[in-house]
Amino acid sequence: MLDKDRIKALEKEIGRLTSELSDAYKELALVYELSLKMAPLLDTAAIADILLIKGMGLLEAGVGVVILFNTDGEVTFRSSKGIEEGRILGIERYRPDTIEDDLSKALGVKDPLIVPIALKEKRIGILCFGKKEGGRKFSLLDKRLASALATQSAGMFMSSSLYLKLESLLLKTIRALIRAIEEREPYLVGHSERVARIGVGIAQELGLSEKEKRNLEMASLLHDIGKMSIERKILEKPGRLTEEEWKVVREHPKKSLFVIEDIGELREIFSALLHHHERYEGKGYPNGIKGEEIPLLSRIIAVADTFDAMTSDRPYRMRYTEEGTIREIKACSGSQFDPKVVEAFLRLREHRPDLFSKEEV
Ligand SMILES: [Fe+2]
Repeated sequence: MLDKDRIKALEKEIGRLTSELSDAYKELALVYELSLKMAPLLDTAAIADILLIKGMGLLEAGVGVVILFNTDGEVTFRSSKGIEEGRILGIERYRPDTIEDDLSKALGVKDPLIVPIALKEKRIGILCFGKKEGGRKFSLLDKRLASALATQSAGMFMSSSLYLKLESLLLKTIRALIRAIEEREPYLVGHSERVARIGVGIAQELGLSEKEKRNLEMASLLHDIGKMSIERKILEKPGRLTEEEWKVVREHPKKSLFVIEDIGELREIFSALLHHHERYEGKGYPNGIKGEEIPLLSRIIAVADTFDAMTSDRPYRMRYTEEGTIREIKACSGSQFDPKVVEAFLRLREHRPDLFSKEEV
C-alpha cells in the first residue's frame, strides 16, 4: 500500500506531466494550424499578418512586430500591429546587442518578448510581442510558443523571398525579350510596357490582389508576342485586310499562348493571353465568349491595349487624339468592353494622368 506522501508526490508528478503535455499539445496544434494557413501563401506581408494575429491572440499581447533583415543586418521588411507603423521605421539595422532596447523604446513597452526567426541557425528576422497595458507578464510557456511561431514562419518567409526573387528575374527576362522584339518594329516600341502600366493601374482601381496585378503585368507584356510570326506586310498593310489576312491576324492570341505554354510558371496567365481579343457582348475572337466568361485580366488588357494602340501612330494610320480615343472607349462600354473596367479606366485617367504618358516612367 502506498503511503500518503508517495500518493501526493505521484499526484504532483501527474499534474506536472499533464501540464507539460497540454503545453506540448498547444505548441503542436499551433504549429499545425499555422502551417495549414501559411502554406498556400507566398506573400511576405500576408505571412506576417497571420503570424502577428495568431501570436497576439495566443499571448494576449497588445503589440506585435515582425522585422526581417538581410545578411548585412539591413532591415528588408517590417510589419506591426497594435502601434502606428511609423514607430518602428527608425529601426533600419539589426544590431544583436541593442535590438531589445531599440524595440522597447520604439514600442514604448517594458520587457517585450523577443524571439529570433531563424533558419538553420541563421537569423533572418525577429518576432516581438509587447504586453497589453496592465496585462500579465509573459511566461516561459509564452516564450516557447513565440519561438514555435517564429520557427514555423522562418521557412515560409524564406520561400516567399526566394519566390519574389525568381518572379522578379522572370519579369526582367520577359521585359528584355519584349524590348528586343519591339525594337524590330519602331512603331511598337514601348507598347506592351504602356499596356502593362495602364492595365495594372486599372487593376489597382478594381481592388485586385498583388498576385493578380503581377499576373496582369506579365500578361500585358506578353499579350501580342504571337504577332511575331505574322508577316510585316499584313501587320503594316494600309487599308482593309482580305478575309485570308484577317484569319492570320485573328490567330495571334493562340500563337501568343503557343509561345509560352511550355513555361509552367506562367500557367496562370495562359487564359488572359488567349482571350485578350474577346468582346464583352461575345463577338470577339478566338472563342466568342462573353461577359464574365472572359477572364477579368483579358477584359482589362482589352481596354488598356485599345487606348495605347489608338493613341499611337501606326504605319497605316495616324494616331487618334486622347479625347477621341476616350470617347470611343466610352461608346464601346457594354459592347466591346466590360463597363466596370471602362469605369475603372476613366477613374484612373482622372487621378493618374501620368500613367498615360508615352514617355517611359
Ligand atoms: Fe492582340
